[in-house]
Amino acid sequence: MRVETPDFELTETLDADIRRAADRIREARHLLVLTGAGLSVESGIPPFRGKGGLWTKYGEPPLDGYQRFVADPAGAWRTLLNPTEPWMTALRETVAAAKPNAGHRALAELEALGHLRCLITQNIDDLHRQAGTRALAEIHGNATLYRCLGCCRRFARDELAIDPEDLPPRCPDCRGIVKADTVSFGEPIPEDVLSRCFAEVARCDCMLVAGTSATVYPAAGFPVEVARSGGVLLEVNPEPTELTPLATVSLQGPAGAILSRLLHWVRDASGEGGS
Ligand code: APR
Repeated sequence: MRVETPDFELTETLDADIRRAADRIREARHLLVLTGAGLSVESGIPPFRGKGGLWTKYGEPPLDGYQRFVADPAGAWRTLLNPTEPWMTALRETVAAAKPNAGHRALAELEALGHLRCLITQNIDDLHRQAGTRALAEIHGNATLYRCLGCCRRFARDELAIDPEDLPPRCPDCRGIVKADTVSFGEPIPEDVLSRCFAEVARCDCMLVAGTSATVYPAAGFPVEVARSGGVLLEVNPEPTELTPLATVSLQGPAGAILSRLLHWVRDASGEGGS
């Protein structure tokens, strides 16, 4: 599996900026992290936009995927069980092979050190959970789970037998229609995770945003809300985004190397040492 390890030079200027960002993290009362597809690029999963992006290569899928599912859930399940869209097979194969990278591990360690209140991710690849992050809001769902549209109960894949002759699968609790937990285009964000995100953002005084083009709402609105209410915004991205002008500190580089260095300075100043 090809793993993106972008050539990257840690200049003195960038390292000084990373130290400034580490200071803001230590001062924060309610630090949130928002991640996007860029976090998993170094685990071999392509992003959606920009260089090597799935939408860049195959075009954005139709924005009414959810409406199509509701109109014909059995047909949608047959497509899900036998995908033909190249972007879907590319995403499915790379997610299945992917392992957490240094960026996921650094964020899990930031939580273990007591600095991180919640990590909001747009990624469906389960890598933050596998890296050990516990306070996790998966705003676009999790590809390893199913979800009942009736009662919002989530099932691990091995909890619910899918019979290709009896589609769509039904919830054993409420008999509601079950779909993949991954939020489809046009689907409302599930109420439980959305209200948690809003509650966390309302208390946030510092947000670290890593690996997102900040183009898809409501997630893209969270950092703008934090900046607008006077909070600190820290951005990690090899490219500038719409958030860059709002950022207190903008760290241009790959998440794996930057977040590992950020963790080093967070640990170092609090005398916890570390590699
Ligand atoms: N480290 C950090 N960031 C990176 C890296 C890297 N190694 N490589 C690329 N990036 C950045 C890109 O510069 C880009 O800004 O990651 C970002 C990826 O942007 P998108 O592909 O748009 O992904 P994301 O922002 O998560 O998209 C949001 O759009 O299609 C929907 O549901 C999909 O959750 C997704 C949402």
